[in-house]
Amino acid sequence: MTQQSTALVLGASRGLGFALTEEWLKRGWRVIATVRTPSRELSDLGGRFLGSLDIETLDIANAESVDALKDRLSGRNLDVLFINAGIARAIESSPGVADERDFLDMMLVNAFAPVRAAELLRSLVPAGGTIAIMTSELGSIQNATGSWQLYSSSKAALNMLMKGYAAQHARDRHTLLLVAPGWVRTDMGGSNALLSIDESIPLVVDMIEANRGKAGLRYVDRFNKTLPW
Ligand SMILES: NC(=O)c1ccc[n+]([C@@H]2O[C@H](COP(=O)([O-])OP(=O)(O)OC[C@H]3O[C@@H](n4cnc5c(N)ncnc54)[C@H](OP(=O)(O)O)[C@@H]3O)[C@@H](O)[C@H]2O)c1
Repeated sequence: MTQQSTALVLGASRGLGFALTEEWLKRGWRVIATVRTPSRELSDLGGRFLGSLDIETLDIANAESVDALKDRLSGRNLDVLFINAGIARAIESSPGVADERDFLDMMLVNAFAPVRAAELLRSLVPAGGTIAIMTSELGSIQNATGSWQLYSSSKAALNMLMKGYAAQHARDRHTLLLVAPGWVRTDMGGSNALLSIDESIPLVVDMIEANRGKAGLRYVDRFNKTLPW
């Protein structure tokens, strides 16, 4: 009998993280999904996939919270660690007028904290496993048009930090993916976004599967197309 694959999804209370959790459960995976506060939706999902979903508590902005999760998961082997948590603040703003706290919060939650989580949790992912982090098409400096400029800068910073991570931890032989899911209708993406969650997340999971076992860092969209830094 083949062993059930396991994914850990950080930031799964709603939106894309919830959808990733549901998609892997539908595909027969075991999923460990984290929330900051209890999510009724996620608990109900656990009821639909009895025995396959573990719900854990995590605030990615808090290093002690990540360390505590690592201790609780000691001895588990993750096929995929997917770091999804993110925030968008002051999306129409620019440095001349923005509240600097909004920018600092995004730099912490979107750039620094995901890579710190990868560093703290990487020992749970065996060689050949995957660490994926949700970035954005907006993180591409080459393709930048100036929209959502503070948020985009935090995702560009995330991409840069992952360049450093990939160089530092090349011996891990992990597949490292910076994932751009498209513009999707969620609380963050808003109702004008181009894609439904169903038009994005199954393709994201297919793309992760297609990259399984390919060590090294890629910045990719849901179609497995490499994006320019
Ligand atoms: N939607 C899009 O069009 C789009 C496009 C490109 C990239 N993305 C990226 O995709 C990811 C998910 O976005 P989304 O659209 O699903 O957004 P969302 O609906 O606003 O959901 C954000 C998720 O991140 C969690 N989160 C936020 N801060 C956290 C923290 N400090 N610790 C742990 N979890 C935290 C939230 O948990 P709570 O419920 O506790 O707040 C929630 O589960 C983000 O990284 C986002 O930047 C989204």
